[in-house]
Amino acid sequence: MSAKKPSDKPWGGRFTESTDAFVEAFTASVGFDRRLYAHDIQGSIAHARMLARVGVLTEAEAGQLVTGLEHIRDAIEAGDFDWSVALEDVHMNIEARLTELIGPVGKKLHTGRSRNDQVATDLRLYLRAEIDNISSELQRLESGLLDLAEREADTVMPGFTHLQVAMPVTFGHHLMAWFEMLERDRERLADCRKRVDSLPLGAAALAGTTYPIDRRLTAELLGFGRIAENSLDAVSDRDFAIEFCAVAALIMTHLSRFAEELVLWTSAQFGFIDLPDRFCTGSSIMPQKKNPDVPELVRGKTGRVQGHLVALLTLMKGQPLAYNKDNQEDKEPLFDSVDTVKDCLRVFADMVPAIQPRRERMREAARSGFSTATDLADYLVRKGVPFRDAHEIVGRAVRLGLDTGRDLAEIPLAELQAFSPVIADDVHQVLTLDGSVAARDHLGGTAPAQVRAAITRARRRLAAPPGSTD
Ligand code: ARG
Repeated sequence: MSAKKPSDKPWGGRFTESTDAFVEAFTASVGFDRRLYAHDIQGSIAHARMLARVGVLTEAEAGQLVTGLEHIRDAIEAGDFDWSVALEDVHMNIEARLTELIGPVGKKLHTGRSRNDQVATDLRLYLRAEIDNISSELQRLESGLLDLAEREADTVMPGFTHLQVAMPVTFGHHLMAWFEMLERDRERLADCRKRVDSLPLGAAALAGTTYPIDRRLTAELLGFGRIAENSLDAVSDRDFAIEFCAVAALIMTHLSRFAEELVLWTSAQFGFIDLPDRFCTGSSIMPQKKNPDVPELVRGKTGRVQGHLVALLTLMKGQPLAYNKDNQEDKEPLFDSVDTVKDCLRVFADMVPAIQPRRERMREAARSGFSTATDLADYLVRKGVPFRDAHEIVGRAVRLGLDTGRDLAEIPLAELQAFSPVIADDVHQVLTLDGSVAARDHLGGTAPAQVRAAITRARRRLAAPPGSTD
């Protein structure tokens, strides 16, 4: 193209030369924002209907616009749409095609609107729908966790601090810890959704528009719960995307902790669980290997989602009002966060119900490592020994066990009595694993009865809107 030829862009009126070829590619977003097409068309249809209702367009014109837009949506879905980088973004691609299809009336669609309020609206419509999808996957995963926890309410395993055996817990109780994390995530998503659910359209480029628009009607047509109050803020606010990325980063952080434990537990050293073959892969060189790739990948993918949060915060930092082209960079991190978190939740929701516990291995591991030492100290306290003295006495008994290769439960009564005269023949009851877990019998404790009660409450919470039953 000659440098003298005026621009052929939809905005080209005041330009005296066409865009540099590389700049055209550099500034285009259609390569990634085309995924917003359905929401862009949804927003345009609502805008056209509103314009007709207030008399800026005739009903006939709006009807033509809507028919054309619906046709374009079908064509895109059928893979029959030529996306053009020269037309920069999803918005101008669709608008240009509309005019091609229905003639000059297509040029009226953009009345009283700017791409600035358009793109903000598209993104909110997109994210609102994706939050609902993510929330259902989260719910599916949580429900699988509850079923597994119920089956494992009596299964004893070691609880850890510092990854050292600390006290016996039940596997069901451990699974319910993950439920709690994910349930908070579901609440956070629902809370974030409230701020996503706000209509920017009508803000136009930044200051509003001179046409007698009816934003309440547009909001109603698009199902928005609120209308953005300030036009400058409406076009430039990306808090909602940042907030979503923060929620997504936290979901991934939780999944990565979960994943890490699954990786540890499937190892020969722990051997607490098996994952079915369909969730694992082998090694191309070591024939014996069965690797927990799914949890490892989820753990790995956490990095990019956390990175996207930082990317968006940094993108927004220091931006003056109102819209800046910087904001075109909000899409890829947001889209990738949505895709990644959705896929990770999906694969976990599929995998968790298939976890095969190796109950004997867990019990065996809980038996070692003096996991009932605190129970012995509590026993002494019940017999009148001050806690600090009890701690010291049990410490010495543990030392004996270490020196002689025995767990506390394996030390005969007579030998234990050498540490404290209050120790009687009821002591071995408190040193058993089942006695130990059953004794932690209060709200939030690991006793099987408490775990079952927690699961019952959890099922109610999961069936209700997040946070509503607390
Ligand atoms: N592609 C742009 C974006 O994603 C659309 C808005 C462009 N507005 C503008 N005035 N250049 O942000």
